[in-house]
Amino acid sequence: MNLTRILTMHLIGALLSAGAMAQQPVYLDASQPIEKRVEDALSRMTLEEKVKLTTAQSKFSSHGVPRLGIPELWMSDGPHGVRAEIEWNSWAYAGWTNDSCTAFPALTCLAASFNPALSYAYGKAIGAEARYRRKDVLLGPGVNIYRTPVNGRNFEYMGEDPLVVARLVVPYIKGVQENGVAACVKHFALNNQEEWRGHINVHVSDRALYEIYLPAFKAAVEEAKVWSVMGAYNQFRGEHCCHNDLLLNKILKHDWKFDGVVITDWGGAHDTRQAALNGLDIEMGSYTNGLTSEAEFGYDDYFLAKPFLKLLNEGELPVSVIDDKARRILRLIFRTAMMPGRPWGRFVNEEHSDVARRVAEEGIVLLKNDNRLLPVVPGRYRRIAVIGENASRSLTVGGGSSELKVKYEVSPLEGIRAMYGASAVVYSKGYSSGPSAYGRVIEPGEDQALLRAEAVKVAAGADIVFFIGGLNKNHHQDCEGGDRLTYNLPFDQDVLIAELLKVNKKVIVVLASGNAVAMPWVGEVPAIVQSWYLGSESGNALANVLSGRVNPSGKLPFTFPVRLEDNAAHYFGTPSYPGDSIDQYYKEDILVGYR
Ligand code: BGC
Repeated sequence: MNLTRILTMHLIGALLSAGAMAQQPVYLDASQPIEKRVEDALSRMTLEEKVKLTTAQSKFSSHGVPRLGIPELWMSDGPHGVRAEIEWNSWAYAGWTNDSCTAFPALTCLAASFNPALSYAYGKAIGAEARYRRKDVLLGPGVNIYRTPVNGRNFEYMGEDPLVVARLVVPYIKGVQENGVAACVKHFALNNQEEWRGHINVHVSDRALYEIYLPAFKAAVEEAKVWSVMGAYNQFRGEHCCHNDLLLNKILKHDWKFDGVVITDWGGAHDTRQAALNGLDIEMGSYTNGLTSEAEFGYDDYFLAKPFLKLLNEGELPVSVIDDKARRILRLIFRTAMMPGRPWGRFVNEEHSDVARRVAEEGIVLLKNDNRLLPVVPGRYRRIAVIGENASRSLTVGGGSSELKVKYEVSPLEGIRAMYGASAVVYSKGYSSGPSAYGRVIEPGEDQALLRAEAVKVAAGADIVFFIGGLNKNHHQDCEGGDRLTYNLPFDQDVLIAELLKVNKKVIVVLASGNAVAMPWVGEVPAIVQSWYLGSESGNALANVLSGRVNPSGKLPFTFPVRLEDNAAHYFGTPSYPGDSIDQYYKEDILVGYR
């Protein structure tokens, strides 16, 4: 081949690719500003295509625009790890074998660290896991304020203090979104109990709304620039929060200038006109109760699907209504699924385990330590009794939508055995709570009196006792879909602790929970540790703190009232909590928690 021929071929090649460039639509050109790409894509879409964007196509994905090569949005819970894959159209797990994640500590633990830098590391790591799993939207973090210690979902949130929550949620969101994955801050707003969560109508003063319940969401929008927000199931001043004019149109989108997407909670939409006009953008999970029940229906029957298209076609609703939603959804797709230079993510590695362990260690709170019983330095005691079901039970299973399928979970018992030597440790379960099941309690089959008697015997023969109890992720404990029925520890743990103290004064109580509990034994027990739900590195982190390798530095992000009536929401009785099943009045107003 001579030189002239080679040059001519290069020239033709260059001209061809320049032609191809010229023909490339603006919306596909990553060098163009995002708003230009959004407008270009919108201008190419039919009304039907725009409407499609606003609804689910499966349990956890919403439509793209196949004709234009604009991808679907894939979502996953959140907020403590990336949930296992769910079937296309049922709540059943899909049975994949590549979806076992790193479990990070529950957000209550993160809040207790009071450490924004750690929150950023948490967000960055969980976002990378979501990205590797090809998710575009991570359904979290949850920032509903801790109003009552019986709320079944407090463990997923960050406590009672609006300032603490706001300071910690911002770096979490930034960390997640750096992966090209949207955080979806939830549940906006006033979803502060699980009882009647689907319809209870919350009444709260403007002052309490703005001072207590909105600041974390506001920080998420204005400071962290969160890309999506999930509406709450409940009603506020007579309108469901997933299509609530005041919350979504006026406050979120107008006052805070939110340019992202409002997604329903699963099954949180109830009406086409309201959904169209009151600020909702994507409808997910309709005709389900959000956890278990299904109905025979097509995604085309969603409030924002055919019925919405019909109103638009009939001129009952202006096209500007769908254009605004489509713009927001396209923007979200360009920010995530079509993000230029999007990282690939990473899933289950040492670095993520390290973040999980550090959050766990920094979140653990030392509540009491008489006579410096802690730390229990290895070698100081010959016989160590570990008593309590939470020492050996998986606490990443159960709890509702935040349930995780984990790659590994080091239990407190395993961590303690590794720290002190297996031969020094004797374990006795002490009580039994039964398996976890959504929406119902399965009574434990074991004889509680027998378990208790065995544990007391073990404690009597030991030099020191670690009692590891608290709540768990069963229905009516720390679990979505129901509130706790009592403020006391369940499964007669108070009786067990009292009996242990009769035979051994050196009882260290370690509580795994995301909620405050009554402590009738607080005067008798020499040391108390609040250890939350710590995720994959649970046992390692706990053993590091108990042994003194790590100095406990966590601070409570919520109050432990002595009695339930000492909590302001409960002080005002039924109208305040849980309401009369229709309405609820936040009579304590701004007097939430210690403030
Ligand atoms: C929960 C949400 C969750 C969604 C999807 C709902 O039941 O309230 O927090 O993200 O389900 O699983």
